[in-house]
Amino acid sequence: MFAKRVQNMTPSATIEITSKIAELKKQGVEILSFNIGEPDFDTPENIRDKGKEALDLGHTRYTPAGGTIDLREEIAKKLLKENNLEYTYQEIIVSNGAKQALMNALLTLCEEGDEVIIPSPYWVSYIEMVKLTGAKPVLVDMEESDNFNLNIEKIKESITDKTKCIMINTPNNPTGAIYTETQLREIGNLCVENDIFILSDEIYEKLIYDGEKHVSIGTLSKEIKDKTILINGVSKSFAMTGWRIGYAAGPKDIIKAMTNLQGHMTTGPNAPAQHASLEAFRNSNNSVEKMVVEFDRRRKYLVDRLNNIQGITCNLPKGAFYAMPNVSSFYGKSWENYKIKNSMDLTNFLLEEAKVAVAPGEAFGIDDNIRIAYSNSMDNIVKGMDALEKALKKLK
Ligand SMILES: Cc1ncc(COP(=O)(O)O)c(C=O)c1O
Repeated sequence: MFAKRVQNMTPSATIEITSKIAELKKQGVEILSFNIGEPDFDTPENIRDKGKEALDLGHTRYTPAGGTIDLREEIAKKLLKENNLEYTYQEIIVSNGAKQALMNALLTLCEEGDEVIIPSPYWVSYIEMVKLTGAKPVLVDMEESDNFNLNIEKIKESITDKTKCIMINTPNNPTGAIYTETQLREIGNLCVENDIFILSDEIYEKLIYDGEKHVSIGTLSKEIKDKTILINGVSKSFAMTGWRIGYAAGPKDIIKAMTNLQGHMTTGPNAPAQHASLEAFRNSNNSVEKMVVEFDRRRKYLVDRLNNIQGITCNLPKGAFYAMPNVSSFYGKSWENYKIKNSMDLTNFLLEEAKVAVAPGEAFGIDDNIRIAYSNSMDNIVKGMDALEKALKKLK
């Protein structure tokens, strides 16, 4: 029998969809994909060139477990310049993706009996990551009518003497919410008062629209910074999902423990990808800004289309590249053999009938909605929305 930690993992609701998509594609069916959480842009050329150069320069061996000093120093410069946060390279660890950085932090802080507060809707992996440490995820529902903003009162009520940390993600996947300075200050102070660590996942920090501002919670006071582990990476900002480079910045003793852990688990992050990432931080050539202009155009079109479909309402996301339309008015409707009871049924219906792949809200803790990623071309978004609208009209 396998270990309990694996048995206790809930299979992702998106896995079913992903395997169905693979099956359909194998049969030659063309699927318009809006279920994937990665930019559709290529890694900028200068970064790719650095990746190629890395191999010729011999960056093919183990690096220090926490990443090269060069890269950690470059990240420290970035954090100071862009986020107004002062960290030394010893307070930074580079990992194989933000995902590993999050897992390192949770394994370092949490154990059996601890509780971790997670505002819901949440990113799918948070729950399973917390469960892997033996701690208990405590979900706190945020309101769609409040644009999924942080509800401080609700979070306050969920604190117990077992609460070890809170995971916040701004800009948010899946809701696109961006937490304001005031909300972050309140949460930060609450955590300081109650001796709770803050995992601040800022992976979408650069994908923000309408002049919104990203605030790093650690800038709000020294006391808050001392309780914060900032998580970020190159995946979303530089279209580098496959390179697997993420990082964490935080108090030296925590980073040291995370580095010990990482050393035993994966030795260190991928060496050539670290070299390429130096270029991302040093010379991004406005690639992010260009991506944001295109995402913004798609965001406005997509949300406008969705709100013009009878039965759908959709908040305008402020950041990241996801829209979360409320589709609950279709629950209870049917067509031929399809009976729509929840977000999973609707996701299956859209996949089979419209050949449009979305992610069911159920996977993110909110069954009234589906998640549509606009990390797909404008042409495909137009085609996808036409097909989705046509299919939904069949449901009576
Ligand atoms: C909220 C959030 N955090 C972290 C990650 C993981 O990023 P990485 O590719 O750096 O592991 C993702 C990826 O989808 C994400 O959505």
